[in-house]
Amino acid sequence: MGDKLTILLDKNYTIADVGSRLYSTFVEHLGRCVYEGIYEPGHPSADSKGFREDVRTLVKELHFGALRYPGGNFVSGYDWLDGIGPREKRPRRLDYAWSSIETNEIGIDEFCDYAKSVGSEVMYAVNLGTGTPQNAGYTVEYANFPGGTYYSDLRIQNGHKDPHNIKLWCLGNEMDGPWQTCHLDAVDYGKKALEAAKIMKWADPSIELTLCGSATTLLPTYPEWDRIVLEHAYDKVDFLSLHRYYENFGNEVDFLASFYEMDTFIKTIAATADYVKAVKRSKKTMMLSFDEWNIWYQAKTQLKQWEIAPHILEDHYSLLDALAFAGLLCTLINNSDRVRIACLAQMVNVIAPIITEKGGKAIRQTTFYPFSLAAKYCTGTVLKPLAKIPTIESAAYGAVPSIACAVTHNAERNEVAVICVNIADKTQEIEFDMRSFGVVRWIEHVTMQGNPDAVNTFAAPETVKPSAVDVPRDSTGTPQVSLPPKSFHLLRFAC
Ligand code: AHR
Repeated sequence: MGDKLTILLDKNYTIADVGSRLYSTFVEHLGRCVYEGIYEPGHPSADSKGFREDVRTLVKELHFGALRYPGGNFVSGYDWLDGIGPREKRPRRLDYAWSSIETNEIGIDEFCDYAKSVGSEVMYAVNLGTGTPQNAGYTVEYANFPGGTYYSDLRIQNGHKDPHNIKLWCLGNEMDGPWQTCHLDAVDYGKKALEAAKIMKWADPSIELTLCGSATTLLPTYPEWDRIVLEHAYDKVDFLSLHRYYENFGNEVDFLASFYEMDTFIKTIAATADYVKAVKRSKKTMMLSFDEWNIWYQAKTQLKQWEIAPHILEDHYSLLDALAFAGLLCTLINNSDRVRIACLAQMVNVIAPIITEKGGKAIRQTTFYPFSLAAKYCTGTVLKPLAKIPTIESAAYGAVPSIACAVTHNAERNEVAVICVNIADKTQEIEFDMRSFGVVRWIEHVTMQGNPDAVNTFAAPETVKPSAVDVPRDSTGTPQVSLPPKSFHLLRFAC
């Protein structure tokens, strides 16, 4: 037995309500996310509209709050008008972002119907690269205006009498990135986003807008970009976006400590937003939308030239990847007082929890499980766990907590859920002090552990998956939880 750690969970020590938008995802016209991902006419499980039922079943297991669409880098050269109306008239275009060919078989109407079918709302990104503020306003008019105007009547003519009522909108994508089609500097983007925001909110005052914040902490413009764009558009927007991908460059501790870097990123951006709030003497606190996050082996990414639905960005995730991933989930949940939206990028095939074979199977990657378990059980109010968690030395960040942990209390279900990752090389014993809840009953302990390199494949799709374990108790009946080296856990209590 190693040292025992007591974690105090007090029902009054709360952070925020978690909200379903924290468990959102991202569907970009990229690789095989849309085509051969959610949509594959002719597949044995395709419905009458060509959407794969087997994929839809897995998507529903992930309980996504919102689906961000249609990009990503793709959106900065995309004309949404190409994707509406009769399919046979839709143009094929060059997609500059991913050197692919876009057929436009799926557009805003089909996607909104799909989101509805999986019980998620849409978060729609407008093009602020090659696109104009006026065109962004037309998109809102098309999607949300009831009727009697050019674009709303066009939607009705295209078979959607009722508005899509998209509430969440992104003012472009990663406009700080030099890779973006028609990338802008912070001042130019701030001005353009403000004008787009005005028009979009005139078209529908009920919408919520997300301003592009830093695309990564690695850009030299971070976090000055965030200050400048907020100084331009603060009053008209509701969220500032953050994006960040992590990968294993060979130092396992650094990789598993990615959750720590993400926390610093969020705190820095929140502080930057609060500075602008003070400068503006504003009463509004800017909320954050971490609308792209994941593990992505970017250094190994290779693009293909001008194919339709190319096999690109199809990372296969190991158990170790799932552990780093689960740590990131903990950080998002623990920051839910500021991060109100978080999108796992992406949903199918492209750096995704679900992968598909053309004409064949759809399977769950290792990262599927921490997400689905958290989205299902880590709901209600986030609690701040109090513990003196032992630290571990990382090369990149110095001393970091050796356990990443997030806790929620769902008062409606009378349940407390804990997710945690032991990133250390040794077993750690923990117990919970839950005296504020009175009598608690243990429900289950589910874990993922074993060979850190194991992956799920089409031939062996269940190599890595959670399993339930028994929990021994001490003489007082208190459950004694053992966290083996490099392992993920979900613990549930009835209270
Ligand atoms: O998710 C893949 C890409 O990562 C997105 O298109 C872009 O926004 C980010 O750089």
